[in-house]
Amino acid sequence: MTVIRGATTIAQDTKEEIQKAVAELLEQIVTFNRLKRDEIMSVVFSSTTDIHAYYPAKAAREAGFECCSLFSAMEPEIDGGLPLCIRVMLFIERNLQAHPVYLRGAKILRKDIAQKINVAIDGPAGSGKSTIAKRLANDYRILYLDTGAMYRACALKALRGNVDLEDEEAIGACMRDLDLNIEYQDGAQRTLLGGEDVSEAIREPNVSMAASTVSKHPVVRLRMAEKQREIAGRMSCVLDGRDIGTFVLPAADFKFFLTASAEVRAKRRYDELTAKGHAVDYEALKKEIIKRDEQDSTREIAPLKQADDAVLIDTSNMTIEEVLKEIKKKMQESI
Ligand code: DC
Repeated sequence: MTVIRGATTIAQDTKEEIQKAVAELLEQIVTFNRLKRDEIMSVVFSSTTDIHAYYPAKAAREAGFECCSLFSAMEPEIDGGLPLCIRVMLFIERNLQAHPVYLRGAKILRKDIAQKINVAIDGPAGSGKSTIAKRLANDYRILYLDTGAMYRACALKALRGNVDLEDEEAIGACMRDLDLNIEYQDGAQRTLLGGEDVSEAIREPNVSMAASTVSKHPVVRLRMAEKQREIAGRMSCVLDGRDIGTFVLPAADFKFFLTASAEVRAKRRYDELTAKGHAVDYEALKKEIIKRDEQDSTREIAPLKQADDAVLIDTSNMTIEEVLKEIKKKMQESI
């Protein structure tokens, strides 16, 4: 038998907050521990004395945890204890390595535990990777790492230095004093080049193709991959890119490969760029996207490719919500 612990907090003592927090906590425990719902024998909740609006056990039943015994109790009132907190203990039939899950304010209760998961989302430009990866990371309250931004920053440095992007030696020299840092402000990734925040500059249209070109040089790729592995080794994150599932993290816990028709992808980029005030030509954009895919897919080192064990999702006719739902479903199913 295995016992899995978890906890979460609510913002206020309302039925809706309790239902939402309990459903989220149980869903994440199930996903991160790769559980089948019917192997859960019982779930025991305790809540702090400031929670009165609803029984967590009832919320669990409503969230679909019906085949196990459910129980809620109230905790003793402890001075200085974390307020509005719901704790849970799951009893599972088989023996497995338990991954405790602490969410929201309850994270501070167990800073010591590693509940690390890595989700790889690869695919061509405009397939919806970054939007989905960002949303998924936000929903699971884990880090989002945009690996494309790192190659874009390398490209920006080379462009600013007027370096020939095809010249591997010159690129190598340019990268020697690369000072690239990824930081997070209000949950959003900021890319710092030599201390300068280049998060906006790297989105300029000319940087896209340049990033694709510099990223084919091993001197750039190996360095970026090492940085990405180092970040993913330290914390849970969703990484989006081209080679995460195949090269950077071949043992990632979950792998997805998103794709969409060239027309749809070009249209998405067109809408994105025009919304930012860029004057762009749709046909030229489509050509560029196809050329970039070709370059990314045919490079020698770690090309854009679906990993054998990645789940393929064609997002051409799907909304963001539909893709997100599908990914979460697959994550729960991949036991
Ligand atoms: O995802 P993006 O459009 O921001 O990426 C820009 C370029 O960077 C892309 O065309 C190829 C390269 N890239 C890569 O080679 N490997 C990654 N993991 C991410 C991006």
